[in-house]
Amino acid sequence: MKILLENALILTDPFSELMNSKVLIEDGKITKIGDFTDQQVDERHDFTGKLIMPGLVNSHTHAAMSLMRGIAEDMNLQDWLFKKIFPIEERLTDKDVYYGTMLSQMEMARKGIVAYIDMYFHCDAVAQAAIDFGMKAVVTRGLTDSGSSSDNGRLRQNIEYFERWNGRDGLISVGFGPHAPYSCSLKYIDQIAQVAHSLGAKVTIHLYESKNEDYPLSELLRTSLSKCDVIFAHCVHIKEQEIDLLARPNFFVAHNPTSNLKLANGIAPIQKMINRKVQVCLGTDGAASNNTLDIFYEMRLATLLQKSTDPTNISVEQALSMATLMGAKASGLTTGRIEIGADADLVVLDIQKPWYLPIEKLKAHLVHSANSADVFATMIKGKWVYYNGSYPTINESEIRRVSKEVMEKLIDIES
Ligand code: NI
Repeated sequence: MKILLENALILTDPFSELMNSKVLIEDGKITKIGDFTDQQVDERHDFTGKLIMPGLVNSHTHAAMSLMRGIAEDMNLQDWLFKKIFPIEERLTDKDVYYGTMLSQMEMARKGIVAYIDMYFHCDAVAQAAIDFGMKAVVTRGLTDSGSSSDNGRLRQNIEYFERWNGRDGLISVGFGPHAPYSCSLKYIDQIAQVAHSLGAKVTIHLYESKNEDYPLSELLRTSLSKCDVIFAHCVHIKEQEIDLLARPNFFVAHNPTSNLKLANGIAPIQKMINRKVQVCLGTDGAASNNTLDIFYEMRLATLLQKSTDPTNISVEQALSMATLMGAKASGLTTGRIEIGADADLVVLDIQKPWYLPIEKLKAHLVHSANSADVFATMIKGKWVYYNGSYPTINESEIRRVSKEVMEKLIDIES
């Protein structure tokens, strides 16, 4: 399968200059960029007035929670979690999670996201939904032992998910998801990390999301976690002197500004982290606490929050890098670049809009005036998963219909 994209502007990565060139995609990979002579292709797209840029990465989410969008508004984290979310989650089935994940993938693809890092349960359904949609996902099972000696088989389940799904179709990476240091004992985190390390799997964990969380990070890092590739979600209430502990090539911080604001958890000190060489990427968290899955929006918000105290904070390149390169690196599933030999994971943006002028300053517009509604198409591994209003890989009306039924059931449980 050969696909030629022509007449578009190309941003190959946040630090490069814009260029006019063609892109050739063969069997899912980018094989040519530049002004080459046309050849026989299966598909040819005239992208005049459009920009091709690397796909965005959502580095922290609970995709199936789109089923619970709007269900728990105006609540603090503890009430939100214990009074609203957990009682509903106890009743979820594989089918519910499949459709909730599908719904989120539709939204993410519509907004230019090509890969996400998920923590949830019923992970067979999550992985199947990612495969069926054609989206890249780091699938992790949320793990808790609540300080007791048993985790009710959750870690065993996570290992089975790894055996069943890891590497499938080049789309899925199965990782491990210890929920948080307050819901997992150190011994349990160490056990999980040892397993993850032996399998070469990633780990993701919530860290210092709310101000009530007080545990020494140094102790956590004395476990096998320090050897793993870890995505720490939130890190809002990290202590100043602990920031350096996260500045390691195998560690990433997933910053979720909307969710942190909405649940009154505050603002993570990401400029300080970036200054101290911590690798920061962006997440949306679940749609029950956001309520959109929009990395363009998170990128702009993250930038503005840091600029509220110093306008020189978060450059355009740093912002774009968090949304693409850093998330890509954290996920291990995509490169975050338009480059020869890489999977064709890209976004096509309609830039024939007044807010993309002057075109010479397009990178700044991508951060400060772009809107995810400007996404014209999203391609993952050379397949269009969203194209000009339609979703070529799925039956959209069936997903809408079943999701609606599932949500009606959940709202009944809730009330
Ligand atoms: Ni979360």
